Amino acid sequence: MAKAMKVSKVPLIVDTDTAGDDTVALLFALKSPMIDLKAVTICAGNIGFDQEVENALYTVEVAGRSGEIPVYPGCRSPLLRSWKTVGHIHGEDGMGNSHFPKAKQRPEPQHAVQAIVNLANRYAGQLVIAGIAPLTNLAVACQLDPDLPKKVKQVYLMAGANQGLGNVTPAAEFNVWVDPDAAKIVFEAGFNLTMVGWEICVRHSVLDDAAWDEIARWETDLSEFFLRVNRVAHQFSKREQRLAGGTHPDALTIAGIIEPSVFTSVKDRYLTVENRSELTRGMTVVDELGVLHREANTHVVYEADGAKFKALLYELLQERW
Ligand code: BDR
Ligand code: CA
Repeated sequence: MAKAMKVSKVPLIVDTDTAGDDTVALLFALKSPMIDLKAVTICAGNIGFDQEVENALYTVEVAGRSGEIPVYPGCRSPLLRSWKTVGHIHGEDGMGNSHFPKAKQRPEPQHAVQAIVNLANRYAGQLVIAGIAPLTNLAVACQLDPDLPKKVKQVYLMAGANQGLGNVTPAAEFNVWVDPDAAKIVFEAGFNLTMVGWEICVRHSVLDDAAWDEIARWETDLSEFFLRVNRVAHQFSKREQRLAGGTHPDALTIAGIIEPSVFTSVKDRYLTVENRSELTRGMTVVDELGVLHREANTHVVYEADGAKFKALLYELLQERW
């Protein structure tokens, strides 16, 4: 008799500045049968820090996992810089101005950076980290434990841009722009690191009005949550970014962990971060031609399968997991 194949789940931490597309990414991590979510860690970024924590806790509750997945508050600001939050993109509460009630589960007393270091020790060689926020928590974790990059199996970052397409300045993507000093530390720390940049998300994670209409027809708890949380960002992307609909960069990143074939072209490149100039603050500088003669430090995603991403998202929102 054929034996049933045992699927080994990916032990994962999601480091997030929970608002908008972060909630969808979290739903993927909370619901996928391929993921064993160990912790959610919160970093300063999208909106007010305490609201980000509440948004993560509420998302855990919506996924039906209240009390199961610890949420650790981390760094409340970037290492050195001041930054601007983006309530105008995701809604003042980061949840499409839904103003949901507080979740029952409360945040953990331990700091996120300590939690990351502890989990990397407990699951040494196995732990995967998805960074879908500015990189402050991960940079400080590298300072706390310089061996962290050797212990973590893989880091996936929604961060930066391959060819300088910015979304917060002409040169920089938001997560790297908020804390370029932290990003420089993380990219140069020696992690086995995969970067999903902004251009790839613009090309492959946009959901247009037709997709919205389809999602609205399902009337599941998760599809309704999705529509409420992302409604402000959906309109912002159409109006300000001249796109067909909202982008889902963080969700695309986690989809590629659940199903690696979502990333269809990945190339190894040396990459570093501009953290001195004001004009190009937070630009990810990818040495495409190898002119710096430096060893590659990043697996850079160049293409993704948008149809596969959408199919996974539809499975999630139809609650087929
Ligand atoms: C990134 O910035 C945030 O606003 C999104 O959540 C995503 O992580 C895109 O640049
Ligand atoms: Ca994010």
